[in-house]
Amino acid sequence: MPSETQIPAIELCGIRKVLAGQVVHDGLDLKVARGKTTVVVGASGAGKSVMLKYILGFMQPDSGDVRIDGQSILGLRETAMKKIRSRYGVVFQGAALFDSMTVFENVAFPLVEKTKLSAKEIEDRVMHYLSLMRIAEARDKLPAELSGGMQRRVALARALQLDPEIVLFDEPTTGLDPETSESIYDLFIETQQRLGYTALIVSHDIPRIFRVGDEIAVLHNGKIESVVKAKDARRKATGWLRRMLVA
Ligand SMILES: Nc1ncnc2c1ncn2[C@@H]1O[C@H](COP(=O)(O)OP(=O)(O)OP(=O)(O)O)[C@@H](O)[C@H]1O
Ligand SMILES: [Mg+2]
Repeated sequence: MPSETQIPAIELCGIRKVLAGQVVHDGLDLKVARGKTTVVVGASGAGKSVMLKYILGFMQPDSGDVRIDGQSILGLRETAMKKIRSRYGVVFQGAALFDSMTVFENVAFPLVEKTKLSAKEIEDRVMHYLSLMRIAEARDKLPAELSGGMQRRVALARALQLDPEIVLFDEPTTGLDPETSESIYDLFIETQQRLGYTALIVSHDIPRIFRVGDEIAVLHNGKIESVVKAKDARRKATGWLRRMLVA
């Protein structure tokens, strides 16, 4: 038996999925090691968001398996799936903040919904995270009043509120300029080191995204075609990856 630390936090095994007559995944395998950051890169339409939806239990593969800590989550009842989801933090593509709520309310939302913390405890916790993300001064603003980079920082702060074991990031920097993207990656690295969560990031921000990962997996033609250590990806010319992704 592998020891608990060797069991991947997330494992996708032999996944096949056809959507609207199109093969999206065909033999997709991926292991996400506990406490590490795995980055999946793939072109637009490669099936990155759909892959995250299996892990979230929002979509089921046609065949194959999805395991969290070695346990299959396929076919779980909604209450059991909700329990699994409560261990995740999620930063959705484009931040997905609640438009009519302030920054403070957005970040406090999971605490209000899922915990019995007092108003003072919620205030302390939310402000701690807003300070960590360097957006404390924006607490009373609405998402529409924020820059794209600030919105992502709010989304990251919100995703971390319930001390997630696993954080899923769908394109955390799409649409941001290079400098703002770098600042988001700095914050990500800082919080990941501090909190030690397992991270799965999907992105096509090549080569910048290599800075944040431990392992880089390339999703192409419906499967993971290559897994490399991020430090090797950083060292290598990234031309091979670019060629693979536009092919
Ligand atoms: N609910 C759905 N019904 C039908 N087809 C879908 C559905 N969701 C996704 N698809 C298709 O599956 C493929 C993969 O979609 P997905 O959203 O995972 O791509 P992606 O890699 O996340 O792309 P992007 O980088 O643009 O976000 C696309 O061809 C998309 O049109
Ligand atoms: Mg997507």
